[in-house]
Amino acid sequence: MTGDITYRNPDEATDDVENLLLLNMEGFDPPITHSTAWVAVHLNSDTIFIAEVEGQPVGYVLGLKGEHLPDLGWTRQLYVREEWQRKGIGRSLMEHVEDAFRNKGATRAGLTTKAGSTGHAFFSAVGYAETKQVDDLYGEGEDRLVMEKQL
Ligand SMILES: CC(C)(COP(=O)(O)OP(=O)(O)OC[C@H]1O[C@@H](n2cnc3c(N)ncnc32)[C@H](O)[C@@H]1OP(=O)(O)O)[C@@H](O)C(=O)NCCC(=O)NCCS
Repeated sequence: MTGDITYRNPDEATDDVENLLLLNMEGFDPPITHSTAWVAVHLNSDTIFIAEVEGQPVGYVLGLKGEHLPDLGWTRQLYVREEWQRKGIGRSLMEHVEDAFRNKGATRAGLTTKAGSTGHAFFSAVGYAETKQVDDLYGEGEDRLVMEKQL
């Protein structure tokens, strides 16, 4: 039983900065700051999607689409609450953000992930291929893979 899952952009007029922060704190250590979440919701709302079940946020994707690399959309974070994982929500969130990137002119999507992680397995399953490794990206020994997909 998965209930009705809806996907929407964050709304400046609601508690979506807090919603994003709560989900982010569950999924990532260290979490992003309030100001980062605020800036994301206010400047990138069309490339952020929140997945909800009965009005409750269960996951999100934070995508970024800058102007300096017009062909590239970048997924900065993706998280689905543990009890809602393996139900296709992560895949749908990626489809939403990839559509948004396409609508803004991107022809490829990129991200970084840790070799051998759940994210690595997930992003491979949804069509991303490794392009290079960046050593020490998140501090000493915190290497990451860059993965990309043609849109
Ligand atoms: C990665 C994550 C977002 C996946 O979300 P999800 O909703 O569970 O993913 P989906 O159900 O759409 O999975 C799609 C496919 O990805 C692969 N996949 C997903 N989770 C996997 C796992 N834990 N191990 C191996 N493959 C996995 C599978 O091929 C899966 O298809 P299947 O269920 O038919 O086998 C979720 O596990 C998560 O939030 N993890 C913690 C945070 C994180 O690692 N974020 C990514 C790095 S930023």
